[in-house]
Amino acid sequence: MRRPVSIIVAMRRFAVDIRGAAPTPLRSAVFALVALACSSTPDTPPPPASVTFPAGFMWGASTAAFQVEADDIHTDWSHWAAMPGKIKNGDTPDPNGPDSLDHVDDDVALLQSTHQNAYRFSIEWGRIYPTLDDFNDDTPDPAGLAAYDNLVDKLRAANVTPMVTLHHFAFPDWLSDVTDPNDPQGWERPGVVDQFATFCSRMASHFGDRVDWWITINEPLNVVVGGYIQGSFPPGLILNTDRGFAVAKIEVRAHAACFDAIHQADTVDADGDGKPAMVSLAKHLRTFHPYDDTDPDDQTAADRVKYIYNDWFLNAVVLGNWDDDLDGTLTDSPNDVTGDPTLVGRADYLGVNYYSDTLVSASRGVIIPVIDAAIYEAFMPTTRPKTDFGWDIYPEGLGTVLDEVKPYGLPVVITENGIADAGDVNRARFIAEHLYQAGWAIQRGVDLRGYFHWALVDNFEWANGFCPHFGLASYDPTTKARTARASARTYASIIQAGAVKQSDIDAMPPYATPTVTCQ
Ligand code: FCB
Repeated sequence: MRRPVSIIVAMRRFAVDIRGAAPTPLRSAVFALVALACSSTPDTPPPPASVTFPAGFMWGASTAAFQVEADDIHTDWSHWAAMPGKIKNGDTPDPNGPDSLDHVDDDVALLQSTHQNAYRFSIEWGRIYPTLDDFNDDTPDPAGLAAYDNLVDKLRAANVTPMVTLHHFAFPDWLSDVTDPNDPQGWERPGVVDQFATFCSRMASHFGDRVDWWITINEPLNVVVGGYIQGSFPPGLILNTDRGFAVAKIEVRAHAACFDAIHQADTVDADGDGKPAMVSLAKHLRTFHPYDDTDPDDQTAADRVKYIYNDWFLNAVVLGNWDDDLDGTLTDSPNDVTGDPTLVGRADYLGVNYYSDTLVSASRGVIIPVIDAAIYEAFMPTTRPKTDFGWDIYPEGLGTVLDEVKPYGLPVVITENGIADAGDVNRARFIAEHLYQAGWAIQRGVDLRGYFHWALVDNFEWANGFCPHFGLASYDPTTKARTARASARTYASIIQAGAVKQSDIDAMPPYATPTVTCQ
């Protein structure tokens, strides 16, 4: 949940108004206790002095097409970004973005020089099929296809495993008209599930000889939050949970259809592990705490939001448990289904995006319909250090969400984790602390196969434009030359060591207060 424009900013102001920005002693004490409880219980051993990662671990970075490519003009996001007031500072992706498809050599060199062996990127549907006729006739744009061929081939030549996302927020503009939010858009369009499955099938058959790792949809619920609750994504609706949850349900079907399509089309085992395709989604997982620790209604609200945000989608596509009315039970609605064969088992691994914690209140702030809670994700009144985006730095939460997904019994890949840190003052510690949590989760039995840092290079951060700097590398907006940040060296050393020592973290400077604010 993120990229807040109006609603979250309003919530934040409201929170500050009623609570004051300063953390209360009670809150600080409770967070300290929670941290203590999380760090050592009778079931979990004490924090290890060091953690190690298994051979074959994927060490990489992520990007998404619209955020790093130039001229993605056949996407809804390109029209959206051109509309006044939609993007912070009026930023548009062109011409100042990193132009990654034209700088593949630079990006591959960056991956290599930092010892990364994997790279997650997305293929832009509207670049491959700029018009509906192109799609219907299966006439992919030759230059578009060639650009991704070039990227995949150069990654493989450099021994970097490609992981491909097929839907990362943007739609082709023939599926989503940003000027007409009242009509069905994107995932609401009739026939979109079949069209997406067709796109998945064609991409899997074209790239399957070189790609084994696939992501169907990135953060399906953030599409709902951004597009239908906060209004910061197309189609720009606010608090329209009826349409939003209808979209979430279609995304479940779209994911399953894409999963099946990829498995049918990608029959070539590109990496020699005996599996032609490993398919998942990138599921954003967060931790959720009650806004007021002493209020049982806030606790109930936090549990409900956690269920809807973290569990509901995964229960559907992994277990086949379709909770139609989102109430956490499978017995009370005639449309609930347990073990639906059209959904069960549609994940070969779990892709997990983890960034931060969320505070939830049953009564304070803007109550979101259906969810019945107000959500605070930025500038929360906690004592934790903050990023340039106002998000709490909360590495322990990564351990928590990894433990939470362990019962699904699947391999896990951290498909995104990163920090807005223009000054690069906190990123090194952030990476080390999150990898420490990841390694510790492995010791607790989580079958973690990889970590992809968001992002390889600074990029266009959706509604917040170019303000947040998430890159392991910066780039010159004119020449596009990449410069690895110092924190990229820290990441590279951890990769080389295949380990993180607590003593190395202790030797790092403490988190600094951000000098930039991007909300
Ligand atoms: C994630 C998105 C990614 C980027 C990061 C900061 O939620 O998947 O595109 O915006 O946040």
